[in-house]
Amino acid sequence: MTTTVLTESPQQAAHFIREGEVVAFPTETVYGLGANLFDEAAIRKIFASKGRPADNPLIAHVADLSQLRLVARDVTRAAQKFIAAFFPGPLTVLLPKSERVPLLATAGLETVGVRIPRHPVAREFLSACGVPVAAPSANLSGRPSPTTWETVQADLDGRISCILKGDQTEVGLESTVVDCTGVVPVVLRAGAITLERLREVIPETRLSEGGAGELPKSPGLKYRHYAPQAGVVLVAQPHEASPAANAAYIGIGAHPQAASFGRHRACDSVEDYARALFLFFRQCDAAGIGLIYCQAVTEAGLGLALMDRIRRAAEKHEW
Ligand code: TXA
Ligand code: MG
Repeated sequence: MTTTVLTESPQQAAHFIREGEVVAFPTETVYGLGANLFDEAAIRKIFASKGRPADNPLIAHVADLSQLRLVARDVTRAAQKFIAAFFPGPLTVLLPKSERVPLLATAGLETVGVRIPRHPVAREFLSACGVPVAAPSANLSGRPSPTTWETVQADLDGRISCILKGDQTEVGLESTVVDCTGVVPVVLRAGAITLERLREVIPETRLSEGGAGELPKSPGLKYRHYAPQAGVVLVAQPHEASPAANAAYIGIGAHPQAASFGRHRACDSVEDYARALFLFFRQCDAAGIGLIYCQAVTEAGLGLALMDRIRRAAEKHEW
């Protein structure tokens, strides 16, 4: 059992990284669980503290473009274009890894995912760390990604050295992951940098076979993700959800019998829905809800990522 220090100081949090410890920190997507990328003992602590399978690679977070060269052997033409258009932001580019990046962090792969977050606290923290920071989402493996520091604490208190406190995250879903190592860029995980926006930069960009989340190249995607304890059911229209005290509903349209649900959330937009989803899942679990109805949205723009996460949550069985 470790004492988990709560702080609002990026400098104090960065001190723990330099000491070889793991630290949860806010980004614009979800909270990350960081450690010095070049310190294998620290990387091991990430896998241990969240119970993450060793075959699931970590994303390298860097403060600025000068650090990119430390982690990537080659920055491909496609990556250069996406970086120019979308960094800093909720996008991860896969590149050939440099020799310094331990295979432990990439789960044995010769590629590394790299991202520069745009969240000001994350950037201050990463600058203060002075090293690239490997970070998965800061949840216990198999639980929904954390969008507030309180949910990080609920999962990892006593298991990590520090939580850098920030606001509820702005996007609410994990970054877009795009493989830039081949001839044509391939989206392995949909996110807030949408397929449409990537195609404005490189029109040939495609989704990986099997859709927005079926990732032969992304080992993490074979695990059940984003899943609350409750069952999750997709409905096209609000009235298809059956009201009950132990059921919940979330969607863009309000349910006509909103008050008959244990929890009910009508969202203003797809953006609002994405921001709210993971916290809603956790609140439903805390309230002992057995079934969560999620209204489907159009699979365009951010809706593609949102539907990917809802479908994964609705998946009943371990893959
Ligand atoms: O928004 C985000 O990406 C957040 C914040 C903290 O930056 N991080 C995050 O990390 O969601 P994680 O580990 O929960 O998800 C990373 C995903 C996994 O599905 C993993 O398998 C995939 O990216 N991934 C990472 N490196 C990869 C690589 N070299 N090749 C293929 N897939 C990779
Ligand atoms: Mg994760």
